[in-house]
Amino acid sequence: MNHLHVAIIMDGNGRWAEERGWPRTRGHRAGADAVLRTVEACPALGINTLTLYAFSSDNWRRPPEEVGVLMALFRTFLNSEIESCRREGVRMSIIGRRDRLTPALVQVIEHAEEATSDGETLQLRIAVDYSSRDAIAGAAALHSALPEGGTPSRERFRELLERTQHGDPGTPDVDLLIRTGREQRLSDFLLWECAYAELIFSGVLWPDFTGAHLAEAVDVFRTRDRRFGALPNVAARESRASCDIHL
Ligand code: FPP
Repeated sequence: MNHLHVAIIMDGNGRWAEERGWPRTRGHRAGADAVLRTVEACPALGINTLTLYAFSSDNWRRPPEEVGVLMALFRTFLNSEIESCRREGVRMSIIGRRDRLTPALVQVIEHAEEATSDGETLQLRIAVDYSSRDAIAGAAALHSALPEGGTPSRERFRELLERTQHGDPGTPDVDLLIRTGREQRLSDFLLWECAYAELIFSGVLWPDFTGAHLAEAVDVFRTRDRRFGALPNVAARESRASCDIHL
């Protein structure tokens, strides 16, 4: 089967907690459990690459206490999952800027990446201090500094884009983008990489997201007729007519 790259905008932690009368940060902690469930479900669903949006560059505008809890959560999560990722063949990488993260977090990131670099079952990418527009601008700047000049091919630009965000230059584009939490927007996430992604917007708040929700999203994705600008596949269109989304 082809490579499958799923990206998820994990939205709804704050509302999940507020609906229970709890502080928002409790929603983020529950969100970390949903991350584990999601990662565990990937291999059986044929997912090779999973990119999770954990903290956008615009999330620095949140109250410092919330930012502090999130950063501490990332550090604890990475530290505590290194061993199981290594065991399960999960290669971790953190995409985004690193110059605004604490040295302690950067150290854990580097250790997690190095310790899991042999993983071949799943490439788990976590976006922290990530902005797609900044990554695209960075790739354009890198390209203009290259001696070869001219217009970059899409493939070359894609490699440069990964380079600006500490990514793996060979990472394929996103096939399926899921956003939980009832909102329907991209929020500066993987804008270039999602050029032909199928989009699924789920009403489930992220802390409630399970492997079954992911499986349903992948099922729906597999019914989509991906044309990449070419002509429709009539057989696929007919089989799709009876497909409902319950997410
Ligand atoms: C958006 O929900 C979520 C975030 C800004 C943080 C995502 C973080 C996690 C899922 C925590 C664990 C992640 C890892 C990788 C360990 P929101 O807070 O904007 O929710 P709201 O829209 O309901 O307020």
